[in-house]
Amino acid sequence: MRPITILVAIASVAIVLQAAEAVTGGWQPIKNLKDKHVREIAEFAVITYDSGLGPRIEPLKLVSVDGGETQIVEGTNYKLLVTATPANESVAAGGDMYQAIVYESLSNVKKLVSFIPWD
Ligand SMILES: *[C@@H]1O[C@H](CO)[C@@H](O)[C@H](O)[C@H]1NC(C)=O
Repeated sequence: MRPITILVAIASVAIVLQAAEAVTGGWQPIKNLKDKHVREIAEFAVITYDSGLGPRIEPLKLVSVDGGETQIVEGTNYKLLVTATPANESVAAGGDMYQAIVYESLSNVKKLVSFIPWD
């Protein structure tokens, strides 16, 4: 097979797998938590959460993404466990864990569904 044919074959398999997931609608663990897009989703969650805070509350900054699952639903739901710390405190202080749920539509519009302390 020529390389282009192989690529098309791989893409077709990926589409079939996604379609299968769409039917089941189950949560799938995110294999690569360092993925750039996963990090973007986590940053979006923290920034959006911060934008809803009162002026006297120190905003959070993202430290790390520690766990996550996705669910295919006419788009994707991301359920992430993140560590975040108040922006005026050093990362060395440790930070706290939060569970963030973000919905991303098929046209990549993100919406923060929930952001709650996690322990
Ligand atoms: C960070 O800011 C909050 C709220 O403004 C304040 O209560 C807290 O003492 C500050 N922490 C540090 C390490 O400056």
